[in-house]
Amino acid sequence: MATPRKVAVIVGSLRKGSFNRKMAQALIGLAPPDLKLGIEEIRDLPFFNQDNEANPPPEVVAFKERIAQADAVLFVTPEYNRSVPGVLKNAIDVASRPYGKSAWSGKPAAIVSVSPGAIGGFGANHHLRQSLVFLDMPALQQPEAYITNCAPLFDDKGALVNESTRAYLTKFLQAFAQWIERNAPADRSNADPGAATPAARKEHARA
Ligand code: FNR
Repeated sequence: MATPRKVAVIVGSLRKGSFNRKMAQALIGLAPPDLKLGIEEIRDLPFFNQDNEANPPPEVVAFKERIAQADAVLFVTPEYNRSVPGVLKNAIDVASRPYGKSAWSGKPAAIVSVSPGAIGGFGANHHLRQSLVFLDMPALQQPEAYITNCAPLFDDKGALVNESTRAYLTKFLQAFAQWIERNAPADRSNADPGAATPAARKEHARA
């Protein structure tokens, strides 16, 4: 079997008992053998400050290197006020700069949004997709994963015990593996994270 694709999992909550972190752990366990998922932590990233772009803090440099080494990115996030939590947006922003040196560029992505509420983080899921367009990250479209009413899906140890959710997410990850094969760079050495695509350059010129 070929070397598994490395998938950086970004969790959009810093909360100790986070459902999204539990979900990320469950996804790690459900991944097919051709994917190797691992959480890349965002809690120590400083707030983005454009004054430091040319000389970023070491935490940012290290985070960007870890993202650059991944073949793909899986976002597992709650919704805050119908949008993306600030900590997640900050992580996206710090690793996207300076312009032309984004660590995200070209990496296939997928999104799982998780909420105790009834609409499964739909707003966060789709606001995040808006950023991924600009970041040139092809995002898996089907199947979608808006995980609603999440609290009873986990047991008291944090394990995902709902069988139909486990089955659905297993299929989701299989689709993501195929999506990565279709969209990742053919040589598997990762695109230069500094290389903005012609489309992105054109867009930036317009912005
Ligand atoms: C929320 N929550 C929430 N839920 C939702 O479905 N839609 C929303 O817009 C919001 N907005 C929101 C704002 C803020 C500031 C907080 C703190 C919470 C509730 C949220 O889904 C819930 O707290 C989750 O448990 C957060 O995810 P984790 O931390 O469990 O992964």
